[in-house]
Amino acid sequence: MPARIVIAAVAALGLAAGPAAAQGSLNLYCSVQVEWCQAAATQFQRETGIRVNMTQRGSGEMLAAIRAEAQNPRGDVWFGGTGDPHMAAAEENLTQAYESANNAGLQPWALTQWRQSERRSIGVYAGAVGFGFNTELLARRNIAAPACWADLLEPRFRGEVQMANPNSSGTAYVIIATLVQLMGEDQAFAYLRRLHPNVNSYTRSGTAPIKAVARGETAVSLSFVHDAVTERNAGFPVAWATPCEGTGFEIGSMSIIRGARNINQARRFYDWALTAPAQRLGFEVAGQLQTPSNREAPLPPGAPDLSQMRLIEYDFARYGRGAERRRLIEKWDREVGALPR
Ligand code: F6P
Repeated sequence: MPARIVIAAVAALGLAAGPAAAQGSLNLYCSVQVEWCQAAATQFQRETGIRVNMTQRGSGEMLAAIRAEAQNPRGDVWFGGTGDPHMAAAEENLTQAYESANNAGLQPWALTQWRQSERRSIGVYAGAVGFGFNTELLARRNIAAPACWADLLEPRFRGEVQMANPNSSGTAYVIIATLVQLMGEDQAFAYLRRLHPNVNSYTRSGTAPIKAVARGETAVSLSFVHDAVTERNAGFPVAWATPCEGTGFEIGSMSIIRGARNINQARRFYDWALTAPAQRLGFEVAGQLQTPSNREAPLPPGAPDLSQMRLIEYDFARYGRGAERRRLIEKWDREVGALPR
């Protein structure tokens, strides 16, 4: 079930009910970790008096919900989640164009997302795909940590790997699209079929596999590496690596939903979410370690540094196209997800 959270009474935040009511409300659809969603909702409400109703879902699930609600939109703004489903939403006319005065302070990749989506989606953070692993579990089982995509196919990882399901998770889709771009489609699907016996579960949420690594339930996950650092900082025996052959990355994005009932509040949230203080919240309140899109927001301490990685030139326009996304996910369902183990 998605987390639906109505931020506690405005009075509890020290604001009078009157002005808050006058500011109206905002239905925030949120696809980052729920702790960050809550922090963003609380802080925005505190600063503006706008009452925030927040719903958290994975990127793929949120796209499905926005599609289902297209005739009667319930959300106003969609914050976070991988960029490809935001691109698909833009193409399907589920979101609307907006130009914030705060665009001027953003990294070029955030604005590339904005231009390629015809101004309907903008980058709020970036993060790279890689492996997370439980160092204690690997040591106990005498298994060397993975360094390359090829390593994960080895028998030593039989039943030891976890990744998410691309139907619900944007992370899993970025992983599949990365492999297709690195290896070519036939090789990538052959790789995923060979990986299948080593995968113990395809989870609903993109961050579930690294949480399972942290708890020692699985040795290795395919994850965004910033989420591995979050677990390590929380005290778990977790380390990470990016694949030696190269890897892909996300441009975590934000879009205003077409037909938003609270359009002024949605724009206000959008402007706010592009500011450096709002982007620092992810780390300061929720321990999140993505690379912020505001040029004034520093890379959080200990965060993976994308400039030091071997990144592919991820084709966001192509892999964000609705039909391409659907085709690859259906192919994965047929050729990989449905295989016996
Ligand atoms: O919030 C952590 C995070 O890894 C983001 O960087 C990413 O955009 C999001 O989760 C993806 O979640 P999911 O794979 O569940 O769509």
